[in-house]
Amino acid sequence: MKMTRIFLTTLSLWLLVLAPSKAEEGFPDKLPSTFHSLFPFLGRQDDLNKPQKGPNDESQQQNVPQQAADQNPQILSQDFYIKTCPNAQKIVADALAKIVKTNPGALGNLLRLQFHDCFVNGCDASILLDYSPSGDAVEKSSMVNGLLLKGADMIDEIKLKLEEQCPQTVSCADTLAFTANEVMTMAGLAPQKPLGGRRDALVSLATAAETDNIPMPNWTMEQMVKLFNKKGFNIEEMVILLGAHSIGMAHCDLFIERAYNFQNTGKPDPSLTVEVLEELRKACPNLNTPKYRNPPVNFDATPTVLDNLFYKDMVERKRTLLITDSHILEDPRTLPIVQQFAHDASLFPRRFPEVMLKMSSLNVLTGNEGEVRKICRSTN
Ligand code: HEM
Repeated sequence: MKMTRIFLTTLSLWLLVLAPSKAEEGFPDKLPSTFHSLFPFLGRQDDLNKPQKGPNDESQQQNVPQQAADQNPQILSQDFYIKTCPNAQKIVADALAKIVKTNPGALGNLLRLQFHDCFVNGCDASILLDYSPSGDAVEKSSMVNGLLLKGADMIDEIKLKLEEQCPQTVSCADTLAFTANEVMTMAGLAPQKPLGGRRDALVSLATAAETDNIPMPNWTMEQMVKLFNKKGFNIEEMVILLGAHSIGMAHCDLFIERAYNFQNTGKPDPSLTVEVLEELRKACPNLNTPKYRNPPVNFDATPTVLDNLFYKDMVERKRTLLITDSHILEDPRTLPIVQQFAHDASLFPRRFPEVMLKMSSLNVLTGNEGEVRKICRSTN
């Protein structure tokens, strides 16, 4: 069993070396320039099994991870690898730049990968495991993550570079977090020093992903608010996190019903304008395209730039791809937030990294918990 596991892991690593990722259709090959400044320190948010505070709770809206950092000695820290792997951030940045050069779509793939990791039992790289020692189906194999979740091969590539210079030092959870941090920089946001100190999970269970921890594109607003609230995010933070849909794309089968057969009415979604309906029908011409073999459509016209165009498209053109994204334009609780982000271009670049840092500190393993995996696909 162990030999098979080692063989399969080695094989997959070789395949990734021999077959680098291809550029995703529809992405420009130019990336925005970057800026230089540091971001405030944040620490760990400790235990999500404890009741989470509600969206209107004032203390929740303040700097919760900082509070946790003050109380817990095993906090995440910007200096975690200062002695053991001082170049960790640069190693990740260089490896990612190499990947993105031939595959700009990697930016969207990797940001989404971290979201799917952090929302299921915290940011512990459980999404990356190909096998669970218990033999149970892993998160990655779950249909809620979908066959379209990409980026694990890229994390392998980045982790290989870290292993070359700092053997068995930087965890896979930190590799993912450092990568997501660099994604934000490469997508045009101000650079910030990432927090280190996460450790890797020893288990990964598909069932954990399936118990309403990963949102589905046909969810109602109430389902969305409930999930984000459970994870410690208020409604404003949810709207800001959804701004991640300013990069990357969605495949037609995930929203095509809006163009042809909305809620089985045989008609398109009545909230779509003629212009957007035409665009969606052109991009997704065939309702019966087999799943996972359908074209990707960019969330907005700048799919490698984290900007406020996602919100502007909503306000100015009523344009969204996913039904869940359309909810935040329609709901009276979120509409004013969407409008604010659409009108003030400086707001999203300021707020998004802050909420992402909170997300990447969700329920992390630290100290002696878990392990530092050598290969992200397999426990040691
Ligand atoms: C209600 C919440 C959400 C739902 C229902 C949702 C759903 C989806 C769906 C269906 C896709 C298209 C996947 C594909 O076709 O391959 C997608 C893409 C994406 N999502 Fe979300 N998402 C949500 C929240 C988030 C959050 C909070 C983040 C990150 C902070 C995020 C980041 C992304 C990114 C970057 C992509 C583009 C992926 C790529 O280009 O490969 N999403 N999302």
